[in-house]
Amino acid sequence: MKHIFREGKPGAPVLLLLHGTGGTEEDLLEVAKLIDDDASVLSVRGNVSENGMSRFFRRLAEGVFDEEDLIHRTRELYDFIDESAEQYGFDRSNVIAVGYSNGANIAASLMFHYEGALKGALLHHPMVPRKGVELPSLNEQHVFIGAGANDPICPAQETEELSRLLEQAGAHVHIQWEHNGHQLTIDEVQGAAAYYEQHLK
Ligand code: MLT
Repeated sequence: MKHIFREGKPGAPVLLLLHGTGGTEEDLLEVAKLIDDDASVLSVRGNVSENGMSRFFRRLAEGVFDEEDLIHRTRELYDFIDESAEQYGFDRSNVIAVGYSNGANIAASLMFHYEGALKGALLHHPMVPRKGVELPSLNEQHVFIGAGANDPICPAQETEELSRLLEQAGAHVHIQWEHNGHQLTIDEVQGAAAYYEQHLK
């Protein structure tokens, strides 16, 4: 997968950066610096093109996911993280996802499908990636969710449902509510950074 890897300080976590629809692997580099300037960064570009916009999996309509493609692309990303850990020599068990929108959705999908895929996650405006599936154990994983109470793409009930599903699988979830629609704001990033400092660093 097209990506950027930047090595951080020895022993620091690896931030897996996952952009939103139409983004690139450059988008969240500044966000990563605000979260942890010492961390390594593995920033990936989604392999799917929707009218020229990069995404991590196909959708049939706004908010309606192509489930078969989601499952396939989640596996592809999971394998890519494994391969990258070997190639760059980072600790596979110390990977924390930082995702926005479509990128947050594939990060949540990693947690829905694979035990130990992530150590934790900072999810900005995520949705429930799949309904009606049994999640693997997420014991002790810490998840920050940045959400918009007035997000037209990801309604508040969907955020609450995602939080409930992750908690039922054993994760600790914190939701920070904002009122800026689907936008990723500096307040939200600062909230994620504070949460990371306390629970994930
Ligand atoms: C998605 O398709 O993943 C969500 O609707 C968010 C988006 O990327 O617009």
